[in-house]
Amino acid sequence: MKLGILCETAENEPRVALVPDVIKQICALGIECVVETNAGNRAGCSDQSYIDAGATISPNVLAEADIIVKVNCPDEQQIAAMKSGAIVIAPINGWKNTKEVELLNSRGIKTFALELIPRISRAQNMDILSSMACVAGYKAVLIAANTSAKFFPMMMTAAGTVAPSKVLVIGAGVAGLQAIATARRLGAIVEAFDVRPAVKEEVQSLGAKFIDIDLGETDTQTAGGYAKELSADARQRQQNALAKHIAMADAVISTAAIPGKAAPRIITPAMVESMKSGSVIVDLAAETGGNCELTRAGEVQNINGVTIIGPINLAAQLPVHASAMFSKNVLNFLKLFVKKEGFVLHFDDEILVATCVAGR
Ligand code: NAI
Repeated sequence: MKLGILCETAENEPRVALVPDVIKQICALGIECVVETNAGNRAGCSDQSYIDAGATISPNVLAEADIIVKVNCPDEQQIAAMKSGAIVIAPINGWKNTKEVELLNSRGIKTFALELIPRISRAQNMDILSSMACVAGYKAVLIAANTSAKFFPMMMTAAGTVAPSKVLVIGAGVAGLQAIATARRLGAIVEAFDVRPAVKEEVQSLGAKFIDIDLGETDTQTAGGYAKELSADARQRQQNALAKHIAMADAVISTAAIPGKAAPRIITPAMVESMKSGSVIVDLAAETGGNCELTRAGEVQNINGVTIIGPINLAAQLPVHASAMFSKNVLNFLKLFVKKEGFVLHFDDEILVATCVAGR
């Protein structure tokens, strides 16, 4: 059984699906690893480091590999060149990559979509969404600090005392909590809001203030722990309450998301107008429409002195650690298949059932 790692062909994608440390552990499971020439270069992994870990380097991985692991959905050319009966493990995002999923299906390639791993305790160590959200939350704060016209920490200097920046984090899931922790480490005063009241304690334990808002409804969370979409009335109450916090913030990191839906619109143009010149909004929800009405995905805009940043694929901006975390998640997922008797797919396992999107 051969496992293959490809160069990522997507634009601005320096991550690699498996790093040498993890390749070593996969080889120890009795799986041969073959890595496309230069696949890990931009994530700090040279071909030699893969060879040292026990892999071979090849210019034509697709012709050899029985299992292909990727950071992004394989493209049509790659799918066409795969061995029949191959297995693909990658984020697939079938809602946008419909052609690719059709092709994978028609070629009988068993495809496991890593973004669909259920949010259950047993699967926590396979959860690429959490890993990448953690990287994005951290990086978002660094971008905000780098863009802001102010210091984040309090400074006591011979030239006077500088007050710390005020950071508002909207949405305190994985990315939001990491953003809070990072902004606190930089010395900012942090406030946060989430529609799930359960996160209040987590927010406070990171040294931030939780903004209590009476949404007029208490049923804001699904049984699975995700946020529900708010009613129009609750949305209005949230906006009314958040307006003054947004006006006072030097930086807003917005991360609010509802799985499978467009991002909730929270920050209106009037709120942006109320912000001080030199302040910044980093909208992590940009790819699903943005939490700010003015956000444009992939763009940086300056609107009356307020910078609005709508980053795309932020995890790719920290490719070394993002790749290392992704690799560990994949290794834990692979362990579901690798048994003493070889490579076995047990479709009575809810994780495999939930993730298999083609070729079953
Ligand atoms: P997410 O990316 O879907 O959403 C981000 C945050 O936005 C969530 O905290 C959500 O409550 C919040 N939000 C939604 N609408 C909002 C609004 N209008 N205003 C303010 N905030 C709003 O969430 P993420 O980060 O993926 O985590 C969701 C839940 O899943 C959390 O409870 C987390 O602890 C849990 N989880 C469980 C895992 C497991 O057991 N394997 C792994 C990762 C997360």
